[in-house]
Amino acid sequence: MPDLRLTPRRPWKDKHVVLGVTGGIAAYKSIQVARDLTRLGAKVDSVLTQSVQNFVAPLSFEGVTGRAALTDLFSAEGAALHIRLGREADVICIAPATADLLARAAQGRSDDLICTTLLATRAPVIVCPAMNDKMFSHPQVQANLAHLRDKLGYTVAGPAEGALAVGEGEGPGRMIEPWQIEEYVGRALSGKGSLTQKRVLVTAGPTREAVDPVRYLGNRSSGRMGFAIAQAAWRHGAAVTLVSGPTTLEIPVGVDLIPVESAVEMYDAVQGLVSSADVTVFAAAVADFRPLEAKAQKVKRAETGDSLTVPLVANPDVAADTMGLRKRGSFAVGFALETNDLLVNAQKKLEAKDFDLLVANDATEVGSGFEVPTNRVTFLSRDGAPEELPLMSKEAVAEELIERVLRGLDGKA
Ligand code: CTP
Repeated sequence: MPDLRLTPRRPWKDKHVVLGVTGGIAAYKSIQVARDLTRLGAKVDSVLTQSVQNFVAPLSFEGVTGRAALTDLFSAEGAALHIRLGREADVICIAPATADLLARAAQGRSDDLICTTLLATRAPVIVCPAMNDKMFSHPQVQANLAHLRDKLGYTVAGPAEGALAVGEGEGPGRMIEPWQIEEYVGRALSGKGSLTQKRVLVTAGPTREAVDPVRYLGNRSSGRMGFAIAQAAWRHGAAVTLVSGPTTLEIPVGVDLIPVESAVEMYDAVQGLVSSADVTVFAAAVADFRPLEAKAQKVKRAETGDSLTVPLVANPDVAADTMGLRKRGSFAVGFALETNDLLVNAQKKLEAKDFDLLVANDATEVGSGFEVPTNRVTFLSRDGAPEELPLMSKEAVAEELIERVLRGLDGKA
């Protein structure tokens, strides 16, 4: 199945990204970044330093972007290449950024095409440091980074902690992963909007209701929709907290994850956070019931015989039971996964749980609901007719959702 995350979509589509690649072994991952950004619909100009060409070839970048990689300040195009790049760029991302690049950028040097373009642009700049941990923690490197961040307004993305080049052990210095770099680029491209500095609270995933120490009642939710929403909200500049039941997904970039297991744990976490959230999104598939008691020891087959009855009690309704705690003027989004009478049932939930927007989908439809990367949703709001969207990736649905939240918040302001 094609990777639906990588289809042309906002905010990357039709944007011009200048990808600076400097001399470190992490440059092999930058080929992936160039490829993914191109598949997301961006026009990518790769600019390589002399030294990185010891690690990767310009042709690799041309192969994945369809555009010749740029290497020389003085090229066939003439002396003004850096001016054109600086003017046309919607964002400049340098990955990997070596200690040398950070030093030259902090000094405002113009001794190669990347650094000269940095001086010639007013587009947002992201640097993704990658180097040995000793080098990274050196006070001079830290001073350069502080200057780039605090004085020039650059975004410093990473580094991550983990395995460094072979023989160098582990530590902070590893370049962040390609998909994370792509999200940073997306955040820069989304610009400053009405979610900047706003707090967004998202619930996601299934809950697990313990039967005994090894068994639980649960559901098929993968968490993918809620995680995509949390990521999209971060891209739009929000401070995002994601309260999620167990999933196998990567933590979205920049998002504060609070892992929980049961509905009661989810309720406890949410009720402490909801009053400070400007936007709440209830995307979790919360179990409505839990076993009356979780047995302290494993339920044994020999003791249960041919049937087993587990008495259940109602769980808190995370969205409904925290309604009264929501911040005034905040915007609440709910989900309704139905198997029948979709719009009627969804409309009831919109009103009963006091949502401003409800995302309805049909669990019986192919490509919608749990365990699939796509969704076909209908948005219901307090005013206006239901809005049916075509089948699209959950990431694209998340972006559509956040755009409606932005409009809704503006309407409430
Ligand atoms: N929800 C919640 N806590 C629950 C149940 C639901 O926060 N215990 C939230 C979901 O995250 C979703 C909305 O309420 O945003 C509707 O969830 P859904 O399971 O479709 O609705 P229920 O109210 O449980 O109704 P039913 O199961 O009868 O369809």
